[in-house]
Amino acid sequence: MEAPDIFELVPGHFTKSFPHHDLHNKLATLFSQLLDEVNIGYITATVASENSRLVVAEVGRTYKPQGIEYGEIIGAATLIIMITPHGKVGYVHDVVVDEKHRGQGIGQKLMKEIIAIAQSSNLRELNLTTNASKRPDAEALYTKLGFSQKPTGFYVLKLIP
Ligand SMILES: CC(C)(COP(=O)(O)OP(=O)(O)OC[C@H]1O[C@@H](n2cnc3c(N)ncnc32)[C@H](O)[C@@H]1OP(=O)(O)O)[C@@H](O)C(=O)NCCC(=O)NCCS
Repeated sequence: MEAPDIFELVPGHFTKSFPHHDLHNKLATLFSQLLDEVNIGYITATVASENSRLVVAEVGRTYKPQGIEYGEIIGAATLIIMITPHGKVGYVHDVVVDEKHRGQGIGQKLMKEIIAIAQSSNLRELNLTTNASKRPDAEALYTKLGFSQKPTGFYVLKLIP
């Protein structure tokens, strides 16, 4: 397989390119491998948000007179940037590589792009959570990249069951 292109989706990918629905569907198919419910509206809003950066891995794009025809979207990762009194911090969410393409370094490339964006955005730190017993592959990926467990607990109050 050719090496995928790793790039950030920006609002123009949803408004100017052809065919939009194709891109939406490809992203929805990918995210369905991670999320119980996939909502295209939230994906579009993530791309549109100033505080979120959605990075994807794509193979096989073609250019037609009508516009771009997206290839396969085989991976994605999202960075959320928050400004706090402590400074700017980042949260990594929704990291997923298509199951047919795992173990080829794509997750690592996506995460390296997220780290590069975090560095160029002057973030103090990048945070993420993962369930090591359920997702040992993800835990191994994050550890390899230098992430370590914080001594503080991470708490959640679920507002939607
Ligand atoms: C976690 C995930 C994104 C990794 O993507 P990937 O493209 O397969 O990972 P890479 O090929 O880039 O692997 C990078 C490193 O991660 C670790 N790793 C990845 N898969 C692994 C596995 N099955 N077993 C052990 N280590 C693994 C290794 O350290 C690997 O480096 P190496 O190949 O040099 O040993 C992918 O497995 C996935 O989408 N899983 C389902 C969704 C998920 O769990 N997302 C994370 C939510 S927190």
